[in-house]
Amino acid sequence: MKTLFDLRERKNPAAYEAIKDFYSEGVRVFDFEDQAITPCIGCWSCWLRTPGSCIMKDRMSESYWDYVNSDTVILLLDTKQGFINHRGKAFIDRSIPHYHPYIKLVDGEAQHLSRYDKLPEMIFFFDREGVTEGEALRIEDYLYRTAYQFQTAGYLIDDLDNPSLRPLLPRPAKRGTVPVDTASPMNKLIIYNGSPRQQNSNTGLILETLRELLHDRVEIRDLKTRKHWKNWQQKFSEDPHVLFMLPLYVHSMPSHVMDFIEGLAPSKGSLTFFIQSGFPESSQSYYLEAYFEQLTKRLKRVYLGTIIKGGVEGLQARPIQSQQIMIEPMVKIIIELINTGELNKDQLKELGKPVRLGTIGKAFLKTGLINFFWDRQLKANNAYGLKNQRPHQKTRIIIEKE
Ligand SMILES: Cc1cc2nc3c(=O)[nH]c(=O)nc-3n(C[C@H](O)[C@H](O)[C@H](O)COP(=O)(O)O)c2cc1C
Repeated sequence: MKTLFDLRERKNPAAYEAIKDFYSEGVRVFDFEDQAITPCIGCWSCWLRTPGSCIMKDRMSESYWDYVNSDTVILLLDTKQGFINHRGKAFIDRSIPHYHPYIKLVDGEAQHLSRYDKLPEMIFFFDREGVTEGEALRIEDYLYRTAYQFQTAGYLIDDLDNPSLRPLLPRPAKRGTVPVDTASPMNKLIIYNGSPRQQNSNTGLILETLRELLHDRVEIRDLKTRKHWKNWQQKFSEDPHVLFMLPLYVHSMPSHVMDFIEGLAPSKGSLTFFIQSGFPESSQSYYLEAYFEQLTKRLKRVYLGTIIKGGVEGLQARPIQSQQIMIEPMVKIIIELINTGELNKDQLKELGKPVRLGTIGKAFLKTGLINFFWDRQLKANNAYGLKNQRPHQKTRIIIEKE
């Protein structure tokens, strides 16, 4: 079964026909009926309470059956600000129920085990209008990486009128294309908290410590509530120094952060990014770092760099003292940024370790401690017995319309 998910604003039925003609068998088109895709809020219900099912009930959760039971999915994506837009990103983030919390190690990097025996290969088309060559390459790299992380093959359709498949090739993230600059010491730093979590946000915990130390030298704006978005987007041009701190979501930003970024206009001032992730290795965040460089260039701001820190997911579960030890270097690098106008290279390097997991990481994985961490939570939620369920792999009779 092949299913096409058209996530574009402007629908293009002629393209559906061309894609149907390209395949000898039928292609089903899943209609989102112009409904928004609710962003993932990182609640982990799909792993720890109702394994395999998202608690959000919308057209996206209704699409899971079509996704899981297809051998091929075709995603038509819009772009904004030189990246796939928030709708496409929300679709990717909300695919996380199809994976287990459990992990395996591939080439020194962690990957979540697939919940299903085989997940569909992914064919992408993205709109290149208004996208620079550099940005298009970053998007291709990101889509390759998504398919890789989802443990399937990825292909690209370049021309919807005349479809053919181009394999997405493994390419290391192209970082370092925009030079890291410096600014003058900052009177004030505006920090956007990009975690969508309603409670127990790691980003929130780290930023709270920073606020306690720096008081009004930082202004922390939480992107979870959209109430002030318009105002903040307009004020962006007057904010001389801005930092985005966010959790990594499927190798990129959470979709609501992309939604906010879409509303920013070029302006003067500096931009810094702080990506924190669940997996310990910083290489997981490199594809997003590569995009953030392009974004800063597009917004014509001075790029002060991207801080990357892995292994943060367990932060909340640690005893207070251990939390403080973990938070301290993350807060320190931001304080130094404010005081000097630049990121300290040694601190940056130290936070970024390990880039990939080596022998110690492999040995740690073998201890099964990470799985123990997830199993304990599954048991606490009375969901342990359901951990291997495949809720969307069900028999359903499909009546194909001619
Ligand atoms: C939908 C989703 C996707 C994620 N993708 C990744 C990922 O690709 N790599 C990674 O290391 N961590 C990933 N994480 C883990 C988060 O980055 C990590 O839990 C982070 O510490 C959460 O921060 P917060 O509590 O501030 O939201 C993902 C989490 C969610 C919910």
